[in-house]
Amino acid sequence: MIPESLLGRLKVPAMAAPMFLVSGPDLVVETCKGGVLGTFPTLNQRTPEGYEAWLIAIRNRLSGMDAAPFGVQMGIHHTNPRMAVDLDLSIKHQVPVLVTTLGITREITDAVHSYGGLVFHDATTVKHAVKALDANVDGIIAVCAGAGGHSGTYNPFAFLSELRPLVGDKTLILAGSIGNGQAMAGAIAGGADMVSIGTRFIATHESMCSDEQKRMVLESTVQDIVYTEEVSGIGASILRQTLSRPFDAPAQIGRFDVAKEISPRLWKNIWSAGQGVGAVNDIVSTADLCHRLRGEYRAALERVSGLVAA
Ligand SMILES: Cc1cc2nc3c(=O)[nH]c(=O)nc-3n(C[C@H](O)[C@H](O)[C@H](O)COP(=O)(O)O)c2cc1C
Repeated sequence: MIPESLLGRLKVPAMAAPMFLVSGPDLVVETCKGGVLGTFPTLNQRTPEGYEAWLIAIRNRLSGMDAAPFGVQMGIHHTNPRMAVDLDLSIKHQVPVLVTTLGITREITDAVHSYGGLVFHDATTVKHAVKALDANVDGIIAVCAGAGGHSGTYNPFAFLSELRPLVGDKTLILAGSIGNGQAMAGAIAGGADMVSIGTRFIATHESMCSDEQKRMVLESTVQDIVYTEEVSGIGASILRQTLSRPFDAPAQIGRFDVAKEISPRLWKNIWSAGQGVGAVNDIVSTADLCHRLRGEYRAALERVSGLVAA
């Protein structure tokens, strides 16, 4: 189910996924205005002061508007040097949705629930989803094969079928290669309550990445996406064209480490995108993209209900 605090505030059952060095206030504000939950990783601002300034700016820009809520993403892991301070700031500013990765605790969900916020947790395995549900999260983001960033390896239909009964009345969100309203409708038909869309939002005017990165996403196909652990120590979807560039691989250091993983020096040269790049055919404004997603989603639902009638 979609939580009550989101119902009626989303024009499509979707969130724009948090993306390192890609999602910032402009993308978040335009996404929320387009009726899609907009999110960004707290670490896209290099200091806690900068993070707080973004929270205040986003709130001010959305104030009084008929817009979707926004969210932030944090890695809950002992190697994240900003974990405690970013959590405190998120709670102080009552961030509507906290997206957590790597770990989650009951203390965190209690703190977010105390002001009416929601916690959605990224999971690539059933085991991690169960742990997060035990910590009382409000939703699971099922990160499947073909997703951008640190993707999972499971087929979405297989993963959705296993997770749906476990998630019950909470929110099940599907992530991985969803870039248009048709795929969104497919995910909902397959048992998801919402979808999380990353790669498609890279190719927008408001995304923070370079024009070269946007163009590469536009020109790439599924054949250009390489799933490898070599860059960061855990499996990630990488644009093949960037893999020959020099980079300091945290993987060479031996084990996963958030502080090294989020080094802009690493991700300045090596670019991630999901297998859905083939569905990215233009670089558009976020407003146009959200509008288009609504139209495609509606048309896909009408097509399927037409099949029922037939
Ligand atoms: C360039 C890029 C950067 C990403 N950075 C993050 C991140 O910092 N934190 C995070 O939780 N997920 C990150 N992700 C994963 C997304 O949040 C999301 O799970 C994924 O993009 C969904 O799949 P899709 O790209 O195929 O739509 C990133 C994805 C991409 C493509």
